[in-house]
Amino acid sequence: MPKSIFVANALPDDAMRLIPAGVEIDYNATDTPLSKAELIRRLKGKDGLICHITTTVDDEVLASPGLKAVANVAVGFNNIDVAAARRRGIIVTNTPDVLTETTADFAWALLMAAARRVVEADHYARSGAWTAWKWDLLWGHDVHGKTLGVVGFGRIGRAVARRARGFDMRVLYHDTVRPDPTVERELNATAVDLETLLRQSDFVSLHTLLSPDTRHLVGERTLRMMKPTAILINAARGPVVDEAALVRALTEGWIAAAGLDVFEEEPTIHPGLLTLRNVVLAPHIASASGETRVAMATLAVRNCLAVLEGRPPLTPVQ
Ligand code: DGY
Repeated sequence: MPKSIFVANALPDDAMRLIPAGVEIDYNATDTPLSKAELIRRLKGKDGLICHITTTVDDEVLASPGLKAVANVAVGFNNIDVAAARRRGIIVTNTPDVLTETTADFAWALLMAAARRVVEADHYARSGAWTAWKWDLLWGHDVHGKTLGVVGFGRIGRAVARRARGFDMRVLYHDTVRPDPTVERELNATAVDLETLLRQSDFVSLHTLLSPDTRHLVGERTLRMMKPTAILINAARGPVVDEAALVRALTEGWIAAAGLDVFEEEPTIHPGLLTLRNVVLAPHIASASGETRVAMATLAVRNCLAVLEGRPPLTPVQ
């Protein structure tokens, strides 16, 4: 029997070309997520599924007879019921490493943009309101020499911490797992509890996975611990932040500003955020450079093919 793959969302041609001619492909070459019924119908009898984070892969979807692999084109995998997949003997893979630096670049871009009010400055410059150089126009916050708090010190959190070195920043981090001491030394990073991090940091950058433990990790209680001059960055997952509480924090001055790439109910953004000037918003694009998106798709295809060919996948979700 030839192997078969359902590719549930559009992938770059470079990645699709890796699938050998002998493998049957059903391809939804769009970005529009399929309904669950359609997903189940088209997955029927397939050995592998390659999908984006917009495809929800729950136990019902995983019940597809013969399914062996689900290759997510993302490092995050909260769209997949990994425990159910494990019970069913289905291998789940993700795309770590290839997007680390690109995602960290974007988190840093949000940090800089929020601190130095780049988006407001752009709107002002285009608006025609700029009639003369002004001493007190659009004052922001310095980044260099400040304290960065990284919540979630995995690959991306560490890559963000590395960028902070170039800005002579003090780095605090919070994670449930302590890295090798050489990593701490190399990044000049100090492990602290979450409360200390929130109370002492000028910038708080979130890089945790979404799990029941991290849902609304940043909410009213924790936002109130932050400095009134602090800036929150979220390039992890939207539900890590309670958006309603964040809107109050930004409106009432509990914190100074935020830079957000991810939201609780994507693609819907809390209406309170849309009207605030002290927040920079992006449509979940932290890993979206051409090079990185192709690398992610390529890795996902390689992972899926490996499982189908009986080889260990390159980057399984453990
Ligand atoms: C990821 O990889 O998890 C991103 O959020 C989607 O590209």
